[in-house]
Amino acid sequence: MLRIAVFGSGRGSNFHAILAALQQGRIPNAQICLVISNNSSAGILEIARANSLPAIHLSQQLFPTESAYGDALIALLRQQGVNFIALAGYMKRLPSRVVGLFPDRIVNIHPALLPKFGGKGMYGHHVHEAVIRSGERLSGATVHIVDEEYDHGAVVLQRTVDVSPDDTPETLAAKVLRIEHELYPEAIRLFAEGRYHR
Ligand code: GRF
Repeated sequence: MLRIAVFGSGRGSNFHAILAALQQGRIPNAQICLVISNNSSAGILEIARANSLPAIHLSQQLFPTESAYGDALIALLRQQGVNFIALAGYMKRLPSRVVGLFPDRIVNIHPALLPKFGGKGMYGHHVHEAVIRSGERLSGATVHIVDEEYDHGAVVLQRTVDVSPDDTPETLAAKVLRIEHELYPEAIRLFAEGRYHR
């Protein structure tokens, strides 16, 4: 059984898509047992609470040291029996101790075709602006394994969208987001069915 913790900082539409897939039986042998946000007013926490899921505001700023924050986070993950982590619009870096505890069991979704248009500073509208500026004909979404570097780990699944000459960063973001909502549940399903292998 995949016991999933979802981390997010914002509106939570990918989390919502994952939840819907679970509720509709499209991801077998998996459940969400914890939702964590560094932002107390994040939509992702509201969605979790509306679905009676444990929703916790946890930020490093609430702790005197990074190590105390790491301890609290790890205790919470253990307490809920978490064995898989999905980052969905999470704007913070996970403590490296947490990354080390879940090898190949932490995934993230990125709104471009990695390894292009990833790394530090490549988030939100910056990604889509860079894609359009570069004249790329294709963009898309990538689910990848999380390691110590931003947007760096092995690719789990990727899907493309066409970039039209009249696309703006906003229209491209909307196209990519639609794809993300299909891709993320599919990627988690691979892990739930034990079908992801490096
Ligand atoms: C998505 O575009 C995702 O690719 C990126 O952050 C955004 C999160 O959106 N990492 P949401 O909070 O899931 O709606």
